[in-house]
Amino acid sequence: MNRKSVLYTFLIIFFMTAVGFSVYFYKQVQADDLKMAEAISTENPLPDHHFVLIGEEMNHEYWRLVGAGAKKTETMHDVVVEYEGPKRSNPEEQLKLFDMAITSKVDGIVVQALNENFIPMINRAVNEGIPVITIDTDADKSMRSVYIGTDNYQAGQLAGQALVEDTGGNATVGIITGSLDNAHHRQRVQGFKDVVEQVDGIEIVAMEESNITRVEAEEKAYQMLAEHENITAFYGTSSYNGMGIVAAAKSLQRHDDMYVITFDTIDENIQLLEQGDIDAIVEQQPFEMGYQSIEIMLDIIKGRPVQDVYYTDSAIIRMGDLTNWKRKKDATS
Ligand code: BGC
Repeated sequence: MNRKSVLYTFLIIFFMTAVGFSVYFYKQVQADDLKMAEAISTENPLPDHHFVLIGEEMNHEYWRLVGAGAKKTETMHDVVVEYEGPKRSNPEEQLKLFDMAITSKVDGIVVQALNENFIPMINRAVNEGIPVITIDTDADKSMRSVYIGTDNYQAGQLAGQALVEDTGGNATVGIITGSLDNAHHRQRVQGFKDVVEQVDGIEIVAMEESNITRVEAEEKAYQMLAEHENITAFYGTSSYNGMGIVAAAKSLQRHDDMYVITFDTIDENIQLLEQGDIDAIVEQQPFEMGYQSIEIMLDIIKGRPVQDVYYTDSAIIRMGDLTNWKRKKDATS
């Protein structure tokens, strides 16, 4: 072999070896990439369904319970639930969050439909193929699939019956409502009125709104007590109204013989019930509402039959019911 052939042979062997190594390393890298992609997708796979729940106020015990109920379903199904809402009650902000959820093409939206402005947004979502469930407050004139929550009219009637029983049918009443405009508060007031107005000894002398804050509830109750010295009972239609009413009555030294009925068994209301400052509470089931809303959303998505309305329980809790109520609560938590 002359020197030229040796050189060519060497170059060919070198070239083949280089190609061999390249192919080997290329395959290796591809296999690693595949393994990594597999690892990522098994560690953090995309959920089957992405839902959004929009409540009235993020930082509120009642809504935290609704959110917790909905989030519980994440441990039972392949779903992600984003629980959202404004910091403070603000329907415009809720509508913005609603708009964003539609734009992000989520698989389903659960929303508290506070007023008529929610109807076009609900209809838009449904027309874009996103099912909508209303929670806590319904918009039955919209294209929503289902409402889940309290029967607010009936809950108002329960409050009326409790007040009639507890006052022996004799009371001069002030109402602090969460909002004069929002559908569910209006229903709670209507149900209450329809019961107490049947009773001769009961008169409603004033009604003001608290914008669901304790501070405004206190201010409005204070003004009412100043303007109507004969008030003997208060009805509050949202969670923080009872606390505001009690604070106002205390600062005017009118709390001893004041009858107070309000909504929601949140911690502070329970304490006030124990102390005798609140006389009765209309209990709702916020955790159950949140939980059921996602279960029902899955039924809708899977094409299973659903009802138009799912009412969660409401009941009157008085001081005498507290031992049983606590036992039941401990057993279920
Ligand atoms: C109502 C909610 C409201 C909350 C605020 C509850 O009784 O059901 O709609 O956001 O009170 O206090």
